[in-house]
Amino acid sequence: MNDAASSRPGDGRVRVVRRVQISSLAISVPPRVLTNSDLEAMVDTSDEWILKRTGVRERHIADAGVATSDLAAEAARGAIAQAHLTPSDIEFLVVGTTTPDMFFPSTACLVQDKIGAGAAWGFDLGAACSGFTYALTTALQLVATGTHEQVLAIGADVMSRIIDYEDRATCVIFGDGAGAVVMSPAVDPELSIIDFVHEVDGSGGHALRMPAGGSRLPASHETIDQRLHYVHQDGAAVFKFAVRKTSEISRRILERNQLQPTDVDLFVSHQANRRIIKGAADQLGLPDEKVVINIDRYGNTTGATIPLALADALAAGRLKKGNLVLLASVGAGFTVGAVLLRWAY
Ligand code: UT7
Repeated sequence: MNDAASSRPGDGRVRVVRRVQISSLAISVPPRVLTNSDLEAMVDTSDEWILKRTGVRERHIADAGVATSDLAAEAARGAIAQAHLTPSDIEFLVVGTTTPDMFFPSTACLVQDKIGAGAAWGFDLGAACSGFTYALTTALQLVATGTHEQVLAIGADVMSRIIDYEDRATCVIFGDGAGAVVMSPAVDPELSIIDFVHEVDGSGGHALRMPAGGSRLPASHETIDQRLHYVHQDGAAVFKFAVRKTSEISRRILERNQLQPTDVDLFVSHQANRRIIKGAADQLGLPDEKVVINIDRYGNTTGATIPLALADALAAGRLKKGNLVLLASVGAGFTVGAVLLRWAY
């Protein structure tokens, strides 16, 4: 653990009343698949370009009428069942999402109602692609301080609703999905969340945003004509920042816990671009077998990428009880996060 001198605002060394574990994890992805060859028919692109420049082969897209709260609720139900709990055991839920069903009520309120978690309070959290790491850290506090027992952290997005399928620079990257974890007091304090680090660099806000639809530029005929209700991105700027920050924040959280990259069993980064993950992993000296990459099957699902990657690692037997796991994310804002934990089951 670090000393006080190395702390910065946003550094979250857990001042432990009690330690907290991830008790279960479940995901939800819509069944419909959009392949690179489907996109070839929609914009001027090629399977070869998309695969080489992003690593994506296909992504899942929600059918009309399916919203973020639907995917989030399915993931939440799965996580609750896996933890051998019932919805009434859940005391709090936070949904990291960039694509809420609507401005209000929050997706958390909709999910609370859908799953019948009548005792839970909660809210949405806007941190774009850091939605899951931020949600994890937020939910952690409530259990660590002893005020809550069983809480849900959810990352969920239906990105296809805000993607311009005439913009080849963005439509090839994104997909839809959700993931949820139940967090509980640690059964074994060694198998718990160890540390987290977060940063914001608001000066990068222009590089990735949806310009209209909020209080600055409410919906109008002009904003629609100008296609301002879609994701606008300076891909190169985001790419450079993401590679540098993912490795920097990962190194920082390891160093302040007197750990080396070689100590990490599994590196689970936000899945924005295969080259970003590989670039950061290379800078950290992490070999392929310690790095989870599943962007080929899901694309960038924003708040859901890390739980989707953890679920794949679990299913493949790559994530086991006691493993030291490093999560890292960079998202629009810019938002940055790293969470270090020992897997509990
Ligand atoms: O979670 C955060 C979310 N966002 C990100 O992480 C995005 C980070 N950035 C990226 O992943 C990459 O910058 C992109 C995938 C968006 C773009 O890849 P790139 O290698 O940086 O390409 P580029 O923007 O430098 O464009 C290179 C060329 C351009 O053509 P010219 O000007 O060289 O003739 C683009 O017009 O590739 C062209 N291009 C495409 N070609 C075929 C851009 N998109 C496509 C496409 N298919 N889909």
